[in-house]
Amino acid sequence: MNLFSGDKIYSPNDTICGYTVIRLMGEGRYGICYLVCKDDKKFILKQLKKRMLRKVGVARVFEEEILLSIEHPSIPGLIRSFSAGKVSGYLLEYKEGKTFEEIIYKDRQIFGREEIYSVGLQLVQILKYLHAKRVVHRDIRVPNTLYNEGKVYLVDFGLARWIGDDNYTADVDFSFLGDFLLHLYYSSYEIINLKSRPWYDELTLTGAERLVLKRLLGIERRYETIDEVENAFLLLEQNTLRSGPSL
Ligand SMILES: Nc1ncnc2c1ncn2[C@@H]1O[C@H](COP(=O)(O)OP(=O)(O)O)[C@@H](O)[C@H]1O
Ligand SMILES: [Mg+2]
Repeated sequence: MNLFSGDKIYSPNDTICGYTVIRLMGEGRYGICYLVCKDDKKFILKQLKKRMLRKVGVARVFEEEILLSIEHPSIPGLIRSFSAGKVSGYLLEYKEGKTFEEIIYKDRQIFGREEIYSVGLQLVQILKYLHAKRVVHRDIRVPNTLYNEGKVYLVDFGLARWIGDDNYTADVDFSFLGDFLLHLYYSSYEIINLKSRPWYDELTLTGAERLVLKRLLGIERRYETIDEVENAFLLLEQNTLRSGPSL
């Protein structure tokens, strides 16, 4: 993927600005992420690709600007930006855990209803904070969310924008959240019918869950605010408590 971009890829034990590379964590369109260490402390070093700096130099400003303006226990903070010779990027706080992508598609962990609500509500709380700060994330997906001992973390602010700028609206995050939750629901799905049907027919959902997902995805009337989404999740949770655990 990197063959023609001209970006140097570092190997374990190489150093970048005094930080020793432990391993490559991921390579996206605009960045290359490494787990690094210095004085026995681990960090994430996000090297920005030249392609991004050249073509969408502004996007860099957004990620940096937005990360500097927020502070939340479930969002790794930006420690500093750096630019050294040919490499520039950010140093981020490291959060232990695995991405939901790894957990669902590699470990094949199955998520039951109660855990799905817990994960969903944690993301809703993060979005509540972000939207109040006028930030829309625009990329809530299984590779950009970490999970560790029941706690959810949101990373990758590469596509985040200020709500209101260039008509960016908060509701994009609702669609991403709906899609994200479908990955969790499908973790317990067993194919019994090869003919593929829409998710709302394939999955075993309560009527209330189906409606919440449809409203998040914009198939039914969209939610207008994150508070409305939060209330919907709280109601789902209360209903399960009342009817006892299932799944
Ligand atoms: N602060 C962090 N703590 C732990 N892991 C992280 C952190 N930030 C990123 N990662 C890991 O690195 C991967 C790539 O980071 P990301 O910011 O999504 O960049 P991109 O998608 O542009 O490559 C993520 O999928 C995640 O596995
Ligand atoms: Mg990413």
